[in-house]
Amino acid sequence: MALRYDTPRLMRWNARAYDSSFGYVSAHGAPLIELLDPQPGERILDLGCGTGVLTADIAARGTTVLGMDGSAAMIEVAVSQHPRLEFMVGEGSNFGVGVPYDAVFSNAALHWMGHPDAVIRCVRTALTPGGRFVAEMGGAGNCAALTSAMLTAWRENGLPEPELPWYFPSPAEYAARLEQGGFTVRLLEYFDRPTPLDECPNGAADWVRMFASSLLDGVPPATVEPLLRRVNELAAPALRRESGWVADYVRLRFAAVRA
Ligand code: BEZ
Repeated sequence: MALRYDTPRLMRWNARAYDSSFGYVSAHGAPLIELLDPQPGERILDLGCGTGVLTADIAARGTTVLGMDGSAAMIEVAVSQHPRLEFMVGEGSNFGVGVPYDAVFSNAALHWMGHPDAVIRCVRTALTPGGRFVAEMGGAGNCAALTSAMLTAWRENGLPEPELPWYFPSPAEYAARLEQGGFTVRLLEYFDRPTPLDECPNGAADWVRMFASSLLDGVPPATVEPLLRRVNELAAPALRRESGWVADYVRLRFAAVRA
């Protein structure tokens, strides 16, 4: 294992809670690994690897994997849980790797990265000609009920409209970016994936605490609880079922090759 360098963090993560309460993020990655189809001996970059769960699954196929994430907290956990694997802290829109990779893989991470064209440029540069870029991210309309409840609750509480930290492109937009960035798109899927929030007894409020914690920074402490209660009230009609809370995820999944 090597921790290669550090960069500023864009998002504070509770990395251990991420694994225990939001393990579905990695659990949903299995079909994406099948699409990647890692071959023994290949060199693969896991971009936005989080705590390294899928990095380890890819390594188990006999590949050499480097896990990279913008969050030092995530990488600390990844290193401690997978001490034989290599990880580094790095920004998706500004990274370089010393050797050419056969594939870049990314699950539920690209929507956190600003400057999508710069991300695509870095990925292309990291790949050998013909190398694969296989990824899944939130697509247009992702978490629409969740974010609409948030924006309404913020407004009702007299708070400035929060700038949401995610990028959820349409399939047409992202395909155009890939093609302009020097990739041939082989597969592009856009689908709803309602996602049970099994480990979130407080439903949308727990989701906001985990995934939008930076937006709570500017909220007066006494307002946080009533604000999140209101998010739950507003989101419940769309997202609370008898069986529990279900997040309205929409996925964009693609496989592209470096042209
Ligand atoms: C997602 O995986 O779609 C996602 C996760 C957290 C915040 C926003 C989107």
